[in-house]
Amino acid sequence: MTELQEVQITEERPLLPGQTPEMAKEAELAARILLDRGQTHSVETPYGSVTFTVYGTPKPKRPAILTYHDVGLNYKSCFQPLFQSGDMQEIIQNFVRVHVNAPGMEEGAPVYPVGYQYPSLDQLADTIPCILQYLNFSSIIGVGVGAGAYILSRYALNHQDTVEGLVLINIDPNAKGWMDWAAHKLTGLTSSIPEMILGHLFSQEELSGNSELIQKYRNIITHAPNIENIELYWNSYNNRRDLNFERGGDITLKCPVMLVVGDQAPHEDAVVECNSKLDPTQTSFLKMADSGGQPQLTQPGKLTEAFKYFLQGMGYMASSCMTRLSRSRTASLTSAASIDGSRSRTRTLSQSSESGTLPSGTPGHTMEVSC
Ligand code: BEZ
Repeated sequence: MTELQEVQITEERPLLPGQTPEMAKEAELAARILLDRGQTHSVETPYGSVTFTVYGTPKPKRPAILTYHDVGLNYKSCFQPLFQSGDMQEIIQNFVRVHVNAPGMEEGAPVYPVGYQYPSLDQLADTIPCILQYLNFSSIIGVGVGAGAYILSRYALNHQDTVEGLVLINIDPNAKGWMDWAAHKLTGLTSSIPEMILGHLFSQEELSGNSELIQKYRNIITHAPNIENIELYWNSYNNRRDLNFERGGDITLKCPVMLVVGDQAPHEDAVVECNSKLDPTQTSFLKMADSGGQPQLTQPGKLTEAFKYFLQGMGYMASSCMTRLSRSRTASLTSAASIDGSRSRTRTLSQSSESGTLPSGTPGHTMEVSC
C-alpha cells in the first residue's frame, strides 16, 4: 500500500471561559468515551456462540481493528487501558474496533457444564470469519495478546488476504515441548489455576512486588465467577499446536507485523525466537523496558506511539499528523537502536519522539523502548 489514506480533520472548537486547551482536550476525550459505549453482539459459530463488542463506526476503505485477549482476561481487562489512553483517541477515531471475547469470557457468562468441549485455539481462529461475515467487514488489523496473539496469527495464516497488519504482544508460536509439559505439571501440583495464569501474564518480579496493578488483576482472576471457563481457555492455550513459522518458507505471516514484549516478561525468549522466524522486511520488534508482562496495561502511551508508526508504515496516518502527535507528548520516550545479533536486519532504527523525527514506520526493524 503506497498512497496515504484519507485523514479525518477534527473541528477546532472555541475554548470555554477559563478552559485551557488541555482541559478542552480532556473534556472531549471524556465525552467521546461516554458516548461510545460499544455495541455487544453474539454470533453462532461451529464452535459455540462468540460475543464481541464494536466501538466506532466502519470507515470506508479502512480495515477494522480486531483485538483478541489473553487467558484470564476479557477484552475490557486486557485492552481498555490501551484503547482509552489519551493519544490512542487520535488513532481510533479513524478505525472501527471489534473486541472479541473468547467463549465464556464475556461478563456474566454462564459456567460451561462439566465435560464441555471447549474449542482449541485453532478452532477459535476459525470463528473469526463468522464475526467478519456478520459485520460485513472484509479486512482487519489484528491486535492480540498471548493466546489472542496466537489465535490471530493462526487466522492470518489461513486468511492472508484479509489481514492487513498484526500487533502481536507476548506471542509464543510453539507448542509446549516435553520439558515444558513436565514443568507445567510440576507447577500444577503446588499452584492454583489463578496463580498459574498470573505467572503466565506477569513476571515473577512483578508478582512479588505486588503493585496495585497486580493486586487488581490477582483479585479479578482469583474471584472470577467463570474460573471454570477460564481454565478451559487455559487448557486450550497449553495444548496449542506449533504455528511452524519458517523464515522464507510457505508458513509465514505475509502482512506487516509488530512483535511486542516487555523485557524480562515471561514470554521474552519466545517472542525473540518468533522474530527470528518471521520475514524481517515485514516485521518490527518492540522490546519495552520496565513494562513487565503486560505492556498494554503498564505502558499504553508508549505502545500507542509505536502503533501509530506501525499504522503510518501501512499508509494509514499522515506523517504531518504523526509529527504533531509525537511533539504533543510531554513524557519522553527514548529508543535505542539495537541490532538483533541473531540475524541481519534490513533496518534498525534510533528514534526520539521529542524531535518528531521518528521514521515512517516501515516494517523491518528492532526498537528497544525504555523509560
Ligand atoms: C475502544 O474504544 O475501542 C474501547 C473502549 C473501551 C474498552 C475497550 C476498547
